[in-house]
Amino acid sequence: MRILVTGATGGVGRLVVDELVALGAQDIRALTVDPSKARLPDGVEAVRGYLGRPSTLPAALAGVDRMYLAPLVKTNAEVCRLAAAAGVRRIVDLAGAKGGHWQPIEDGVEACGVPYVHLEPGEFMSNAETWAPQIRAGDVVRDGYGKSGDAPIAHEDIATVAARCLVEEGHEGLSYELSGPETLTRQDRVAQLGAALGRDLTYIDLPHDEFVAHLAQTMGDFATWYADGMAAMIDHPQRPVPTMPQILGRPGTTFASWARDHVDTFR
Ligand SMILES: NC(=O)c1ccc[n+]([C@@H]2O[C@H](COP(=O)([O-])OP(=O)(O)OC[C@H]3O[C@@H](n4cnc5c(N)ncnc54)[C@H](OP(=O)(O)O)[C@@H]3O)[C@@H](O)[C@H]2O)c1
Repeated sequence: MRILVTGATGGVGRLVVDELVALGAQDIRALTVDPSKARLPDGVEAVRGYLGRPSTLPAALAGVDRMYLAPLVKTNAEVCRLAAAAGVRRIVDLAGAKGGHWQPIEDGVEACGVPYVHLEPGEFMSNAETWAPQIRAGDVVRDGYGKSGDAPIAHEDIATVAARCLVEEGHEGLSYELSGPETLTRQDRVAQLGAALGRDLTYIDLPHDEFVAHLAQTMGDFATWYADGMAAMIDHPQRPVPTMPQILGRPGTTFASWARDHVDTFR
């Protein structure tokens, strides 16, 4: 069974490769722009290509049975059509909450007719890395909606679920809402980063428009949607869902643990 991992050097995709290796998958193919720089595990076949350039995909899809689909909305429908035409028999896609920014990913997958598993994480723990420049420069983080709460999830946990959905039976046709194990405000997360660093960090709320402008530097059009979501989660914080522990048989990574593991990013 040949499995293609797209976005294979990305935050989630690279860990999907590692998890597939750990699960004993034998025929793993990794899609990357530059195979010579990809630094993939021994035995993983690196093929040249990028989801954003669908013309690079037919060769990468040859002989592929199952595919991890990284989220790239602009070319997603065409990528899915190519996967179906190549005979792919399962797509495990990384999307997000239904009806949100990532909905076109699920729409494209369902339209192509290939059996699927939808992964629907909310906030990623790694989004905290956007605070790294401020934390490296001082003890104050200026950002939006510090009291908004959600249950962020670690890349590692998403990737482990993805790998299991690629190799195991019993997941097809399902949508898995994924979260981390606890609801934390953005202020809580900054405080936990401070604890990992041995420093007291202060969170200062930016006005909404400044927050959107700040986010837009990295998120583009996605910024307004994201900021509005943060605002709504002050009164309606995201609660943890049990999906990931049920699939993996272990609790999810806590933010405090993630902060300790990634502390060098913030030093
Ligand atoms: N709430 C959330 O935070 C949330 C929820 C759902 C989804 N998401 C999204 O999930 C994604 C996860 O990120 P990820 O790091 O796992 O994967 P990704 O951003 O989907 O893919 C990154 C990989 O794509 C390849 N690539 C090639 N050309 C690129 C280009 N021009 N721009 C960007 N990437 C290019 C790179 O690999 P090569 O150089 O090896 O080709 C890169 O490592 C993010 O896009 C995130 O926004 C976020």
